[in-house]
Amino acid sequence: MDTLEAIRRRRSVRSFRPDPVPERDLRKILEAASWAPSAGNCQPLELVVVRDPRVKEELKEAAFGQPFLEEAPVLVVVCADVERTTSRYGSRGELFYVQDTAAATQNLLLAATSLGYGTCWVGAFVEEEGSRALRLPRGVRPLAIVPIGRSAESPEAPPRRPLEEMVHWDRY
Ligand SMILES: Cc1cc2nc3c(=O)[nH]c(=O)nc-3n(C[C@H](O)[C@H](O)[C@H](O)COP(=O)(O)O)c2cc1C
Repeated sequence: MDTLEAIRRRRSVRSFRPDPVPERDLRKILEAASWAPSAGNCQPLELVVVRDPRVKEELKEAAFGQPFLEEAPVLVVVCADVERTTSRYGSRGELFYVQDTAAATQNLLLAATSLGYGTCWVGAFVEEEGSRALRLPRGVRPLAIVPIGRSAESPEAPPRRPLEEMVHWDRY
């Protein structure tokens, strides 16, 4: 699947089959995340791969009970080691590490799509509860939870605003 096709095919999937994700595929998906750009190549990215049902349950609770977080065979929690970026860029670094991890998250979603897996970018969770579940050290923030698995649904694409409305040429 080429990049443009993966971009168009990716959908937020909220129902998963239990089939495990083979290590080989998981590695490809994690590597895709690691190849995202980052400001100054500081690479604040930290990835926690969760397969333990007890940890999944705790993350589901942190995420206001979104049930598919328990259903998916694997969750990848995209985190940032804040100091890696802020030590170089100060307050601007607060923006950069969020952007860096967002780019990595999108790479992860697209790689999973191209390998035939469903995913969903989950951002609605209580950060402190997520950190506690994962035993994150101080200074490492969890920013997105991504369930990965074979999709048990084929969601329609939610509409996008037309380009004519969002694209501005030369000046806003
Ligand atoms: C930063 C961010 C946070 C999101 N958080 C959640 C979430 O907590 N739960 C959820 O079901 N979907 C979440 N989504 C998925 C969006 O709802 C979804 O991307 C949007 O409706 C467009 O649908 P699509 O992904 O199928 O194109 C999130 C997406 C982003 C980018």
